[in-house]
Amino acid sequence: MTTTSLGDTAQALVGKGKGILAADETVPTVTKRLAALAIDSTPESRRDYREMFLTTSGIADFISGVILQDETIHQRSSRGTPLIDVLAEQGILPGIKVDNGAKLLAGAPGERITEGLDGLRDRLSTYREIGARFAKWRAVIAIGDGLPSAMCVRANASALGRYASLCQEQGLVPIVEPEVLMNGEHTIERCEEVTGYVLHAVFDALFDQNVSLEGMLLKPNMVISGDECGRQAPVDEVALATLRSLRRHVPVAVPGIVFLSGGQDHLRATMHLSAINQLDGPKPWKLSFSYGRALQDEALRAWHGKPRNLSAGQRAFYHRARCDSAAALGRYTPSMEKEGALV
Ligand code: 13P
Repeated sequence: MTTTSLGDTAQALVGKGKGILAADETVPTVTKRLAALAIDSTPESRRDYREMFLTTSGIADFISGVILQDETIHQRSSRGTPLIDVLAEQGILPGIKVDNGAKLLAGAPGERITEGLDGLRDRLSTYREIGARFAKWRAVIAIGDGLPSAMCVRANASALGRYASLCQEQGLVPIVEPEVLMNGEHTIERCEEVTGYVLHAVFDALFDQNVSLEGMLLKPNMVISGDECGRQAPVDEVALATLRSLRRHVPVAVPGIVFLSGGQDHLRATMHLSAINQLDGPKPWKLSFSYGRALQDEALRAWHGKPRNLSAGQRAFYHRARCDSAAALGRYTPSMEKEGALV
C-alpha cells in the first residue's frame, strides 16, 4: 500500500463540501440512544436504524464516508445486500471503529486509556479485506481538578500513534481522534490550553512512530466552554479559539480536520463549523465534520423506530447533512433551517 493511495483516500474523505457520518456507536451506546425513545435494541432494529442513513437518496453529495461498527459492517440490508455494498453503490467510503473503548487508567484516578492494540494488525487486515478504507480510534481526555495528567495524555497519544502506524501498514487511513471532553465547569480558555497540550503530544507520538501525515485525518474537539461553565463562549469566540489552537499544533501536511460534535446540539455544531470556515487567514487543511449525534439526533427522533417514518427520518438526515456540508464551506445560514422544513 503506497502513501499516495492513502493520501488519495484521505483527500477524498474531505472533498469539497463533504464530511463523515460517525455511525459507529457500540451496541451499549446505541441501545441507550434507542431506549431514550422506547425503541427496542435488537440486531434488526440497529440494522434498520443504520440502514436509514446509508440508503438516504442523494446523501453522497454531502457525505464522503461512514464510520461503521463491527456489528454493522457484517450486516445485510433489509433487502439482503451487504451494508458495505450499499455504501459502495452510493459512492461512499466505508470506515470502521477499531478501538475497544476507553477503560480506567491504572495509577491515574478519574482518567481513561483507550484499549484495543492487541491483535489490531490482524483485525485491520480483515477489515481491509472486507472493504473498509479508513479506521477510527478515539482517545478521551477529561478536564478537571488537576486533570488531565501528563501520564494520561502521553499514554493515549502513544496508543493513537501505534494505531495510526498499524492502519497505514495495513492500507487504511487512520482517523486520529483525541477528544478533550466538554463535560465540566472549565472555561473556554482552559479547554484551549488542554486541547493545545493534547494535540502537541499526539503529533509528537505520530512523528515518533513514523505516521505519514498525508495519509491520515485528525478528528479533534472544538475549543468550547465546559457544559457546566457559567459563561458559555459565543460562536465567534469558539471559532477563533479553535482555529488558533489548530494553527499552533497541527502540521500543514495533514489533509483534513474533521470535528466531532461531542455533545453539542446539532445547530451549534453546524454554526461553529461554518464560523470556523468563515475566518480570515491561513486554513491549510480542509475543515469539515465527522459528527455522530449532531448528524443523527433529528433523524432518530423523526424515525422513532417506526417503518412508516422512514422517509421522515431520511429527510431529517438529508437536511442536516446539507447544512453541515454548507458549514464545511463556510456557507451555512440559519435560513437554511426553514428550507429544510419544506423538503
Ligand atoms: P459525536 O459527534 O456524537 O461526538 O460522535 C463522534 C464520534 O465519532 C465520537 O467518537
